[in-house]
Amino acid sequence: MPNYTPEQLHWKAVARKIADEVVRPLAKKYDDLQQYPWEIKEAMAKAGLMSVWLPKEYGGAGAGVGSLCVVVEELSRACGGVGVAYAVNALGSFPILLGGTEEQKKKWLPLIAKGEKLIAFGLSEKFAGSDAGSMRTWAKQDGDQWVINGEKKWCTNGGSADLFSVFCVTDPESKAKRISALLVEKGTPGFTLGKYEDKMGIRAVPVNELHFQNCRVPNANLLGGKPGHGFKHAMHTLDYARPGVAAQAVGLAQGALELSTLYAQRRQQFGVQISAHQSIGFMLAQMATKIEASRLLVTEAARLVDAKAENITKLAAMCKYFATETAMEVTTNAVQIFGGYGYMKDYPIEKYMRDAKITQIYEGTNQVQQMVIVRNVIKESLEWDYLAKWIPTETMTGGLEPAPVDATKK
Ligand code: CAA
Repeated sequence: MPNYTPEQLHWKAVARKIADEVVRPLAKKYDDLQQYPWEIKEAMAKAGLMSVWLPKEYGGAGAGVGSLCVVVEELSRACGGVGVAYAVNALGSFPILLGGTEEQKKKWLPLIAKGEKLIAFGLSEKFAGSDAGSMRTWAKQDGDQWVINGEKKWCTNGGSADLFSVFCVTDPESKAKRISALLVEKGTPGFTLGKYEDKMGIRAVPVNELHFQNCRVPNANLLGGKPGHGFKHAMHTLDYARPGVAAQAVGLAQGALELSTLYAQRRQQFGVQISAHQSIGFMLAQMATKIEASRLLVTEAARLVDAKAENITKLAAMCKYFATETAMEVTTNAVQIFGGYGYMKDYPIEKYMRDAKITQIYEGTNQVQQMVIVRNVIKESLEWDYLAKWIPTETMTGGLEPAPVDATKK
């Protein structure tokens, strides 16, 4: 286990109690119903969990992203859907926290910390997923209001949120300042929920389209008070939020490891418990090792976020990439260990595998994470340039001058 702070251990214990006593007994019910688990949300709010990552000056517990991650891990260990239903409030609130005016922070964050308002993040669109910058939803200023038109896709928490951070094109002519973020409240005329997605996993959290038709919000809802900063706010938000997805993956993998280890110690074949077969034992060893490595990466990425380190982008992408790949591998192996029983819905293990799949996709596919990682590695390679003399480049360039190194090239 990482060297958690006393504060993180406190929140870990609070979350584990809720996960074991409230979430686990209800996980199958909400997976079957595909409905938001309001009773679980009430228990989480009562225990103070909705306030964990928010600073004290805005009604939060001030425990940071490190504590957010331990809570998400514990909840996801019992149910990946509940894990994201909780974590997505951090994703939705980070644009306010990172880019909002003082007035916006004071108005909205305390309501989120109390669990009175749930929040969601509206970035992706039907034709703008990985290429988030190519979004089409647009907003135009009209006097003291912004008028929004367009559609957002795959909005996690869409059906249960009261408030939405919505990213819109506000200056189509500009490249660098094309996008701005606006806060939209549920019930605003012109804003409706679209398609309720029927999903493979994380079925406890509603995922919806958001539709805007001449939806008017006051100028005061423009995040940061100035247009044109939306894309950077979105990217910065994702840097803060990706350790949370990674923590969800660690929780899912840990939950699956625990159940499959218990099963392997009880199930007998060829006269012994199956954990005594090396094929299963090595599988468990590899699962446990990769989970621990993922957890350490998550903890370090969250520590950097909380320390407001200068470049958190690479480690946030690395932990998301590594932990979610691990979750998919571990949950698939867990089903394998349960064999025929594992494939059946009578057992809790197949849900872990279904819930894990989305972690490789949302908040940036793992292909996008690798793009982000390699761009950073190439930038860092400038520091290793003095080693280039050890590489006989003429054999690679055929005697031509090598192309100049451009670290910023995509
Ligand atoms: N922090 C701050 N600024 C950043 C940044 C970061 N991490 N990353 C990029 N930027 C800035 C760049 O510096 C650049 O600024 P300048 O123009 O001033 O130089 C600007 O943003 C554009 O950057 P890029 O040229 O790198 O942008 P790009 O178009 O090539 O895209 C990308 C980069 C990494 C692929 C990005 O589009 C991306 O992350 N895509 C994935 C989107 C994503 O994660 N979507 C999931 C949505 S949330 C969700 O899943 C739903 C849910 O509800 C859970």
